[in-house]
Amino acid sequence: MNDKQRVAHHAATQIRDGMIVGLGTGSTADCFIEALARRHREENLRVTTVASSLISTVKARNAGLPLVGLEQLTRLDVYVDGADEVAPDLTLLKGRGQDLVREKILARAADLFWVLVDPSKQVDRIGERFPIPVEVMPFAWQLVRTGLEAAGAHPELRLKDAGAAVTSAGGVVLDTRFDEKLPPTAVDRLLNDLPGVLEHGIFRELASTVFIAADGRIEERRP
Ligand code: A5P
Repeated sequence: MNDKQRVAHHAATQIRDGMIVGLGTGSTADCFIEALARRHREENLRVTTVASSLISTVKARNAGLPLVGLEQLTRLDVYVDGADEVAPDLTLLKGRGQDLVREKILARAADLFWVLVDPSKQVDRIGERFPIPVEVMPFAWQLVRTGLEAAGAHPELRLKDAGAAVTSAGGVVLDTRFDEKLPPTAVDRLLNDLPGVLEHGIFRELASTVFIAADGRIEERRP
């Protein structure tokens, strides 16, 4: 078992009978889907799952997990996903994929949000390794870019093939670097207040537990 599989297995063992479980997207979330499906199959664990992306929907369905659509939910017990960066205060950077809007809806709506990482995801400051994905209404992308540049940031339209990459929510993404002196709280506020921004990759005060797998052990961190 590698670290991703180990942390995923650990989280899956903490799911209780009857829970509604949100499934994240990415290689770590894939390991969790497999571990949860194994418990469903081998221990008759009853769960209802909801996926944050088409790819996780397919993965969960192929693994035999009972799935419902996001639009059918009024609440969920736990959302389980990976992250791209984790800061010491458990602020996260997410959304390098195409499903940021669903991911944040599920992370915010769940009673618990469990984040599964290995030590390579730990950073001193959000945005240290990756630009911050800012998902934008397509017709507003140039005005949002101007607004971000006015705040001293450096946005770049994410491209795919011959055009802009389009997310599952129909947005386009400005991968944006901010001045490192600007605290994440200020960046979070700026992005929340900018009209045309659908969602962004800073997940602040959302994680209830971060599970970190390293050298065969699991460390649990809570805010
Ligand atoms: C998906 O949009 C991201 O938020 C993922 O959670 C993130 O990229 C983690 O992926 P890995 O588990 O593959 O590192």
